[in-house]
Amino acid sequence: MLTKLWGGRFQKNTDKIMDDFHSSISFDSRMYKQDIIGSITHAKMLGKCGIIPSQDSELIQKTLFEILSDIENGLVEFQTDAEDIHMNVEKILIERIGDIGKKLHTGRSRNDQVALDIRMYLKREMDEIDSLLILLSKTIIELSEKNLDTIMPGYTHLQRAQPITFAHHLMAYFQMFRRDIERIWDCYKRTNIMPLGSGALAGTTYPLDRDMVAEELGFDSITENSLDGVSDRDFVIELAACLSIVMMHLSRFSEEMILWSSYEFGFIEMDDAYSTGSSIMPQKKNPDVAELVRGKAGRVYGNLMSLLTVMKSLPLAYNKDMQEDKEAIFDAVDTVKLCLEIFTKMLATIKVKEENMLKAAQGGFTNATDIADYLVKKGLPFRTAHEIIGKMVLYCIQNNKAIDDLSMDEFKQFSNSIESDIYEEISLKKCVSERKLPGGPAKESVLKSIENAKLFLESKT
Ligand code: ARG
Repeated sequence: MLTKLWGGRFQKNTDKIMDDFHSSISFDSRMYKQDIIGSITHAKMLGKCGIIPSQDSELIQKTLFEILSDIENGLVEFQTDAEDIHMNVEKILIERIGDIGKKLHTGRSRNDQVALDIRMYLKREMDEIDSLLILLSKTIIELSEKNLDTIMPGYTHLQRAQPITFAHHLMAYFQMFRRDIERIWDCYKRTNIMPLGSGALAGTTYPLDRDMVAEELGFDSITENSLDGVSDRDFVIELAACLSIVMMHLSRFSEEMILWSSYEFGFIEMDDAYSTGSSIMPQKKNPDVAELVRGKAGRVYGNLMSLLTVMKSLPLAYNKDMQEDKEAIFDAVDTVKLCLEIFTKMLATIKVKEENMLKAAQGGFTNATDIADYLVKKGLPFRTAHEIIGKMVLYCIQNNKAIDDLSMDEFKQFSNSIESDIYEEISLKKCVSERKLPGGPAKESVLKSIENAKLFLESKT
């Protein structure tokens, strides 16, 4: 017996390996809800437009709701030889209500159906990722508020550069995640367009009400070209790109957490709940969360590359290649959600070792620029001041001193313009508090950026 819903023009069944090879049910079954809700809406519209009798439409809708609840209660087993989620659901519908169930697919193709399902599915995932990014952002803000006065060295080339605060450093990450949230919302706009009615590629002769379907399913608008409607996966690629950038940000943050928690830095300690030990070295406490997040960035980039490569040079319109979009984007989405969740928990529980941060800021001549600026204020050109302080730093290195340790006599050897107010002027506290331009590390500037951050998050929730 031929069992395929499309079996009419075939004279024998597909080989078992063929079923296994082209079937996508093992990974697209996760879209069951979107598929069924899409079908319910399609059936409703068919009834309303008089394309099928309204009692048939109602029976189809009711049965689809029952199938949905049966799936959610674990009562349905999907079949590989029914290929994908779309045909599995349709097959069950037909098993339950016979010929009436066979009317559901009127004016529709799996090509526009799958385009609809994936858009609906990714919209929901974008909402979830957005919430996770907001949670992470809030955690960053909370930690920043506790560390407005925590002085640490800021780095360039991984060398101590100028003093900042831990709050200021953390809020840099807030800016990155804020852009991620905005990027995902932008991608959401292009995902929120309804493709049903594109048919296989050339639309359909039935008088479907596409706008009604779009509105019922919460889409902003409908696709404008039937070929593009079934063959566009830009929104999938775009989301993978957004997620790759999220992972890039997380990997930079992770890298810093790993460095900061090392003995050499000693700026933070991770909570035991988010650390692991070594099977041989009893002293070890390893930052596995941060390392795995850093590592998983590669995996998400890989998914982006897969998607770009699958779509490269594909002729219009639908090609089965496009079924390969799912595992890649699902894995990207799953990975990012998992990473955001655990990273946020790890961040929320770190112990900040302020004394070590301060000690690090006191070494490394992080106030050298400020001393040059001190001389500029006393009337020297900046380049001249730079040269003088360079010599002063060299002297300190040779004599194993910090600039603040120099006596007045020593200072005078470098410049007569230096006076006793130097000590106050170049204290780390002052170096930070004087950088009060918008966007700077001074407490008042950071508080302002925290305020803006909160306003942004409020506007998003
Ligand atoms: N499982 C398919 C996919 O994910 C659904 C569309 C199948 N269309 C077709 N003409 N074979 O792309």
